[in-house]
This record gives sequence, structure tokens and C-alpha cells, in this order.
Amino acid sequence: MRALITGASSGIGRKLAIELANKGYDLILIARRIERLKEIQDMFNKQDILIFQTDLLDQNQTKQLLIEINTLKIDLWINNAGFGKVGVSTSIDLQDEMDMIELNIKRLHHLTRFAIDHMTEGKIINISSMASYIPTPKLASYAASKAYVTSYSEALNYELKKQKKNIKVITVSPGPVHTEFGKVAGSNQKLKSMPVEKCVHHILKGINKNKSTIIPGFKMKLLKFFIRFFPKKLILYTAYKIQSRK
Ligand SMILES: NC(=O)c1ccc[n+]([C@@H]2O[C@H](COP(=O)([O-])OP(=O)(O)OC[C@H]3O[C@@H](n4cnc5c(N)ncnc54)[C@H](OP(=O)(O)O)[C@@H]3O)[C@@H](O)[C@H]2O)c1
Repeated sequence: MRALITGASSGIGRKLAIELANKGYDLILIARRIERLKEIQDMFNKQDILIFQTDLLDQNQTKQLLIEINTLKIDLWINNAGFGKVGVSTSIDLQDEMDMIELNIKRLHHLTRFAIDHMTEGKIINISSMASYIPTPKLASYAASKAYVTSYSEALNYELKKQKKNIKVITVSPGPVHTEFGKVAGSNQKLKSMPVEKCVHHILKGINKNKSTIIPGFKMKLLKFFIRFFPKKLILYTAYKIQSRK
């Protein structure tokens, strides 16, 4: 069995890589920080671990990557690379927002389409976020980018089921997880966050159980359930207050 993971150099992607390697998977790991991927390769020298230094914001580098992996059978395709920026939208650098949309939406879409054409059977795991269900002031464009990921992945999975394809698209929507995400987002991480080990445990359990949607942690599952009953004004007010604490 072989898994491909984008954004495997830190956080959720790195831990997924290590846990899947522990389970005996061969891996294709992708990120910009190649030395971090090399560390994982060195940890599992008996397995076939291919590493690619690819900036997924660069279309040419992405195309080159897809050419190089084209002949490999892939069973689990994990679109994990992504980032956010915290702050009032008008104060966030516009180029950062454009890059976020390019990576979180356009590249994930491109890789998902490629994976569907490439795989005859298997699972595509798209890492979204709890923010995808909540319009989030001070995290507005990130939450909107993840709303795209959730909506697209859920609908696509339904279509594949109707077409009786042996490919499943799984949407993963974590709440706050302790990774480098906060540092990259420019937040000082005052929110209580789930350890990355726990998050990855939930993700792998969900994949094993063949779930279509995975929400790591009981509290986040409760939030996802109750959010539909809250008035939008209250959701916006609470989300703003929470983001203002960061
Ligand atoms: N942590 C949270 O609270 C949280 C909650 C919900 C959802 N998520 C989602 O979970 C996913 C993983 O995030 P994380 O929390 O593990 O954050 P992280 O520790 O910052 O990891 C992000 C990964 O994405 C890669 N990446 C970023 N830009 C890239 C680019 N241009 N090209 C290739 N790779 C790139 C990074 O690698 P390089 O920098 O080496 O390229 C890194 O491996 C993201 O999609 C995020 O939106 C996170």
C-alpha cells in the first residue's frame, strides 16, 4: 500500500506520514522543506519513501511532480498542505490571501482531479477545517477557503458513489490542533488545541472505518451538530470574540 501526503514536513501531515509508515505503507511525501522530509525517509529506511521538494504554489513544479509520480499506484492520497492568516481581512497582505486561495482551493482541486483520473480504487483525503462550517471574522478568507474544500469534497464523494467508482473522497475537519499552523497564521495560539497525535489517531480511525466525514474529537463533533441551531448573528459574534483572543 502506498500513501501520498502533501505538506508532510510538519504538523498533521508529518504525523500522518510517520503513523502510516509505522503501519507499513510506502510513502510519497511533498513539501518545500526537503530536509524535514529527509528526516522521515531516514527513520524508515526499509520502506520505499519518495520525497519531493515542491512548492505547490508553483504550477510548473506541481506539473513536474505529477509527471514524476504518474506511474505509481497510490492507495491513499492526502491533500493536507494548507495555511491560514489571522487578522481583520483588510489588514492581511492581499498576496498572502491570494496564495492561500491558490494553495487551499486551486491546488487541492487540481490534485483531487488528478488523483481521480490516476487511481482506479482508493481514498482521497482532503483536509478541511471546522472553520469550513463557520463564517469566521478575523479568519475570514481561510474559513471561506475551507468551506470550498468541504463543499467540493462532499459533493464529489456523492458523485463518485453514484458513478459506482471505487474511489472515496473523505473530508477531514479538525478544530484547533497544536502544529505550526498558528505560527504561520500569525496567531499567538491562546486557543486550547488538540495534540497532533490525537488528531491523527482520529483521522486514521475514521479512514479505517470508511467514514466520509471525519471530525476529530467529541467537542468538535458536538459543535458541528449544534451549530445548525444557532442564529448566524450569534455565530459571527462568538467567532469574532474567539479570534480576538488569539
Ligand atoms: N492546526 C490547526 O489548527 C488546523 C485546524 C484545521 C485544519 N487544519 C489544516 O490542516 C492542514 C495541515 O496544517 P497543520 O496544522 O499541520 O499546519 P503546519 O504544521 O503549518 O503544516 C502545513 C504543511 O503544509 C505545507 N505547505 C505549506 N505551504 C506549502 C506550499 N506552498 N507547497 C508545499 N507545501 C506547503 C508545509 O510544508 P513546507 O512549509 O515545508 O512547504 C507543512 O508541511 C492544513 O490544510 C490546515 O489548514 C489545521
